[in-house]
Amino acid sequence: MKNMKWKVSSQECLSDLSKEIKSTSVEDKLRTFSNLFPGKIVFSTSFNIEDQLISHFILSNKIPIKIFTLDTGRLFEETYKVWEDTNKFYGYSISAYYPNQDKLEEFLSENGPNSFYDNVKNRIKCCFLRKVEPLKKALQGNFVWVTGLRAEHSMERKKLNYLEWDSKYHLIKYHPLYNWKLETIEKIVKKHKIPYNSLYDKGFLSIGCAPCTRSVRFGESYRSGRWWWENDSIKKECGLHIKK
Ligand code: ADX
Ligand code: SF4
Repeated sequence: MKNMKWKVSSQECLSDLSKEIKSTSVEDKLRTFSNLFPGKIVFSTSFNIEDQLISHFILSNKIPIKIFTLDTGRLFEETYKVWEDTNKFYGYSISAYYPNQDKLEEFLSENGPNSFYDNVKNRIKCCFLRKVEPLKKALQGNFVWVTGLRAEHSMERKKLNYLEWDSKYHLIKYHPLYNWKLETIEKIVKKHKIPYNSLYDKGFLSIGCAPCTRSVRFGESYRSGRWWWENDSIKKECGLHIKK
């Protein structure tokens, strides 16, 4: 696995990497990545329960992976609280990225503050300005992007793998908890008293922006609380994980 640097230009390095990290724990995999790509690996957290466990693996083992969040400006108060709690719990400071002020000003002046409810075009534009553009900045210059994506989230996400080549951002995407079940994650989070979003206990399984997230009722799908007013035939994604 020497010379990984020049090999990080295509999908080819994925099979080498898979072999390298096969049958090791999540902590060991994260450490291996951080050794192979020092200073070029980042983890994006939305403070969902799976993200909290990944942050725990990184921070409690002092693995040098930068953790960042995309603050859309429309997050729940509870999300800001768990962000603050996490910083204090681990004595760490999670980095934050923000939307471009001029572009947001223009969009909101033209369309009002809640135009995402009016049509899908405005919703996607809002997600683009508040999440996708800041993500580009956060990923710039990195070789590995760690995320909390899991197969259980949706049919689309079931088609992924725990290791992927992201042709949009030209980097490796690593989803350490890809095959993990929610119950296992919850058990570990509670056992280690890891801070988590208090909305989780109120039925918010997948938590995004406050105006666009509601709790999930028994039997509803994992992401049904996201952009709940939109027709189900629309893939409920904000664009962070769309490959074009
Ligand atoms: S989303 O695309 O619908 O918003 P989701 O909420 O399921 O994504 O979260 C999946 C993963 O995307 C998270 O585990 C995290 O890695 C990343 N993510 C989502 N929202 C944010 C955010 N606001 N800041 C940083 N990372 C995020
Ligand atoms: Fe805008 Fe809603 Fe997308 Fe947040 S989830 S960026 S408020 S449309």
